[in-house]
Amino acid sequence: MRLLAVLLVLLGVVTAPASAGPRHQVGYDRYSLTVDGQRVLLWAGEFHYFRLPSPDLWRDVLEKIRAAGFNGVSLYFHWGYHSPAPGVYDFTGVRDIDRLLRLADELGLYVVARPGPYINAETTGGGFPAWLKTVPGRARSSDPGYTRAYREWLDRVNPILARHQVSRGGSVIAYNVENEYAVNVDPEYVVDLQDRARAAGVDVPIVHNNCCGGYLANWSSGRGAVQIPGVDDYPVGFDCRAPDAWGEAEGVTRRLREDAPVYAAEYQAGAIDLHDAGYGACRDLTGPDYMKVFHKTNLVTSGATMFGYYMTFGGTSWGWLPQPNDVYTSYDYGAAITESRGLTPKYDEFKRQGYFAATVAPLTKTDASDAPAPADPAVATRARANPDTGTQFVLVRHADHRSSADVATTLDWATPDGRYRVPVRVRGRDAKVLLAGYDLGGQRLVWSTSELLTHTDDGGRDVAVLYGRAGEQGSAVLRYASAPTVRVLAGDVRSSYADGDLRLDYPHTGLARVLVSGGGRRPALLLLGTDEEAAKFWRLPTSAGPVLVRGTALARSAEVRGDRLHLRADTAEAGDVEVFAPVSRLSVGGRAVPARRTPAGSLVAHLAGPAPVRLPEPGPWGYRPEQPGAGTGWTTADKTTTESPIKPRDLPVLYADEYGHHNGAVRYRGEFTATGAETTVTLNAITGRRGIYLVWLNGRYLGSAAGGTEADAEPVNPDAGRGEFAVPPGLLVPGAPATLSVLVENMGHNDDWTADDTRFKQPRGLIGATVAGAGPVTWRISGSRGMDERGPLNTGGLHGELSGWHLPGAGGDWRRPPSRVEPGVSWYRTTFALDLPRDHDVSLALRFAPARGYRALVFVNGWNVGQYLGDLSPQRDFVLPNGVLGRHNALTLAVIATEPVTPGPVELVALGNHRTGGF
Ligand code: GAL
Repeated sequence: MRLLAVLLVLLGVVTAPASAGPRHQVGYDRYSLTVDGQRVLLWAGEFHYFRLPSPDLWRDVLEKIRAAGFNGVSLYFHWGYHSPAPGVYDFTGVRDIDRLLRLADELGLYVVARPGPYINAETTGGGFPAWLKTVPGRARSSDPGYTRAYREWLDRVNPILARHQVSRGGSVIAYNVENEYAVNVDPEYVVDLQDRARAAGVDVPIVHNNCCGGYLANWSSGRGAVQIPGVDDYPVGFDCRAPDAWGEAEGVTRRLREDAPVYAAEYQAGAIDLHDAGYGACRDLTGPDYMKVFHKTNLVTSGATMFGYYMTFGGTSWGWLPQPNDVYTSYDYGAAITESRGLTPKYDEFKRQGYFAATVAPLTKTDASDAPAPADPAVATRARANPDTGTQFVLVRHADHRSSADVATTLDWATPDGRYRVPVRVRGRDAKVLLAGYDLGGQRLVWSTSELLTHTDDGGRDVAVLYGRAGEQGSAVLRYASAPTVRVLAGDVRSSYADGDLRLDYPHTGLARVLVSGGGRRPALLLLGTDEEAAKFWRLPTSAGPVLVRGTALARSAEVRGDRLHLRADTAEAGDVEVFAPVSRLSVGGRAVPARRTPAGSLVAHLAGPAPVRLPEPGPWGYRPEQPGAGTGWTTADKTTTESPIKPRDLPVLYADEYGHHNGAVRYRGEFTATGAETTVTLNAITGRRGIYLVWLNGRYLGSAAGGTEADAEPVNPDAGRGEFAVPPGLLVPGAPATLSVLVENMGHNDDWTADDTRFKQPRGLIGATVAGAGPVTWRISGSRGMDERGPLNTGGLHGELSGWHLPGAGGDWRRPPSRVEPGVSWYRTTFALDLPRDHDVSLALRFAPARGYRALVFVNGWNVGQYLGDLSPQRDFVLPNGVLGRHNALTLAVIATEPVTPGPVELVALGNHRTGGF
């Protein structure tokens, strides 16, 4: 059935339906994007569908992104993920991008579509299919060979993106050509990319993400210019070993065109773990302090109204997705949402900033303006104002953005409603965006030293949440025609009224609640809390306008029907949920829950936490070794030419890609007639970082060596991935046939950031082989052809992979494992049954004990969920996406040992357990 569906789609017989929503017109000016003339502040989180091979979980993650206040997602589309070979494309199952876009349409998330063709993204080949390495012509140029190849991809992906445009009732609001195309540039190529998109019906603005803060060649004017040039910026870089070391860069997005909005296309929201510090450290580097100082500085200084936060959920570079030199299997990225889909303190900070951005409409149109002067120069201020409403946005932080001092001072603040001396404090690494002259629903906010989280219209009254750092003093001034009635329901809040100003002063501790009525305005409920209290709120859109929910681990969505609020929410523990909405009854997860009315006019109900989870211990294990020279589908390696700029010193060309073996292991068999004078085997292999190769001669293990990452072009560096192996005396008999067996574990393909082919077209596998003292050697090669039903990047070329040992129910002779295994490849497999509570979201991982001397490919139900690298990477937990798990599961490990080892234990662990209203 599936095959038939694939065929029909490939043949173009069946096309997925177009989007069904109402059509809208997308425009822009120097301030912002517009939809039907209404200004939009695009607050998008980057998400990679290919790093979550479970379409059901796309909904989970996109709902979490939306619940944090994002109104959009930035989506790369990965050519190599869809195409195992020229002319062959798959858009089904985990590759069903039409389904992904339908989901974005349904959730009301705008999409910045980023189909490359080159995407970088620390993925194999930077998103290029490996077969492109054998195509003549420089990639990322207008060379005809490359052009033919990328048009294949664009001609398939563009129509899908086009039918999901906002202009056709869908969610795609902008189309990103190429990626950080900055060196070795070719404008004709960029022109063609845009022409292709337009010819496919793309009518939304075309954008480009310029690298390096926008200081290299950019596409904002001249031939190849795009409509909205954006800027990528990673101001604190990628050295997670020193999470507190911020540099001088402030990360302020440059304006590249006067007639287009400022676009922070990729703004750092996490980091790759370049130096193996572990993603926890990357999360610290880019944690809430960083987000406060850098994200807010950028917001107020640049006036950007288009943002893509990279990454919001990183996910897993499963199978052969990783680009090996910068990352390992996990692409957690230290992001706000963890690889196991958990929410972090960074998520809370995104909520605090995102709800503000989603609420305060004047932010969509601002100009730089005079900032109120601080009395103490250790504090710096910057400001923007909306030219139509006068609303001011004032950034308050340390003059040196890296300072962690505690400074209290006053601002001399000329607000739209009068001049004030306003006390402010900056304690530690912090920044605040303070508001003045803002029409907050039916209230007038004159100024406040608390930051505004959000406000809603709760059936004719305003509910507003303001917050500040725990222990700091806060003040807010609101304007009334006459003294209003102030009732403090909770907290230590002092109020005074003079000359039209109601002033509230309070410490930020817990959550204070203040009812204000009279004074010539509609009533208001002011909720004044700490950062932590603010993060407990959820702002959910409903057909009756946004509502506020407080509590639960996650509130996914809400719907008002009659006098009842229908909430979908997850709990991580038992506790209360409080709802600020014009309703009197509550349902959660489709079930009515008893709720009581509070003095604040809200409803409170108690929700159960999750049931405990019991996980099985994997085992007993079956074991099956690969013979050293094993292989399948051997072909003669006899090529004499290659499109790679790296030319071999000796022929034949042994590069794996030349023989169609693009992923994982390749095996070589070198045959010769022994002379008896052989002394040393010298090999060079290029594998990508952390790759290895193992060598046997006549079945005797000679040892292993690390593969190289790159070989210089001319001449090939003799030390690139070099290994020397002594031929044991007496092993070879003069005149007798001898066989050299080499297993090369390749790690994926280099990217093409420099657009010059010298990185991307680096070979994989052997690039040089000599047996000193031997006569001529003939070579054969065996490897994967990437035609796995789980996609082109699922399986490599281990004999067991080629023979289906990784698949559930694989037959053959599986025995009791020995206590120690010899160097080479050993397969282990077991099954486990899961009995997880219903209506729960349990995120599982396979945890390895620390070990060295071996690595292991991890297969769950045939899916390659990653590669454990022992002490060569910090990763020990391998997240198992729910979609590949069932009640009964097969777990298979391909252990590649370079020395005799006893592979360590593995265990199943739950990284999250939530009772959920379903997703
Ligand atoms: C950017 C690039 C992204 C990703 C990021 C680092 O330069 O556009 O694709 O590679 O760096 O994670």
